[in-house]
Amino acid sequence: MRPKHLFSVRDISKEDMEGIFHLALSIENNPKDFAKICEGKILATLFFEPSTRTKLSFESAMLRLGGQILGFSSAKVSSAAKDESIADTIRMINSYAHIAVIRHFIEGIGEIAQKFATIPILSGGTGTQEHPTQALLDMYTIQKEFKKIENLNIGVMGDLLYGRTIPSLLYSLTKYDNVNVHLISPPALRIRKNVELRLQDAGFNYQMTENLKDVIDELDVLYVTRIQKERFPDPTDYERLKGAYHIKPEDMHNAKDNLIILHPLPRVGEIDYKIDEHKSSRYFQQAQNGVWVRMALILKFLDLG
Ligand code: CP
Repeated sequence: MRPKHLFSVRDISKEDMEGIFHLALSIENNPKDFAKICEGKILATLFFEPSTRTKLSFESAMLRLGGQILGFSSAKVSSAAKDESIADTIRMINSYAHIAVIRHFIEGIGEIAQKFATIPILSGGTGTQEHPTQALLDMYTIQKEFKKIENLNIGVMGDLLYGRTIPSLLYSLTKYDNVNVHLISPPALRIRKNVELRLQDAGFNYQMTENLKDVIDELDVLYVTRIQKERFPDPTDYERLKGAYHIKPEDMHNAKDNLIILHPLPRVGEIDYKIDEHKSSRYFQQAQNGVWVRMALILKFLDLG
């Protein structure tokens, strides 16, 4: 891998991404071949914000590679609660682990890691900014389903303003030819201007709409996100917008036969539980794919794959 750390998908090339997908598929097909490759290596997971999937799938990934894990799941149980700086926390982890995953709310965490980390650091999600390893597993899932990413029509729906998986997914898609994206959100939750400018700079094809029904018949992929309650400065705005979307099986009547529905999870009402049984739902397989992709990432960033 070219970069030492991973805080943005913009720092890796399409070739890097495809190398990760290729390795992830090899691992998925032959997990036993990789079961001892990280013996003697330690992964640290430093989570300053809550997580189920990212933390546990990274830990599962390292254990399946024969390595060991340590870490914490809340700032409250680390010395951050005593006002230790993130720079000092990173200095410490250099001595305790060979690779680390950090989920943090501050936007400059990548620059701090660049300055103070001597081991590879991967973002497990950075504020509202990016979630690069999520985007890689999202892209892996799309690639596996369609055997390509080029020429697909993708709907991205929900909280496009605060959802950090969205910029990472969109930046990843800009690396592929002739992808068309429908950004489906209430006007108040459209993508941020700086994200939009980067898409425009890349010559990316996208349109904005408020209603899924206007575009559902065109889509190959529908990527749904939750409204991010914890990011709203004004809780009354969240209360106004939280019920903006609730997809039910009847909303799929005009969908293509091979549409897939993805969601980074957790969901909180935007996908009805009845959709879990629908032929299009793939969000639990998508989360499972996270283990293979994160195994591949650990190997790539440790220079073992
Ligand atoms: N998709 C995702 O980041 O989930 P968690 O917040 O549970 O890690």
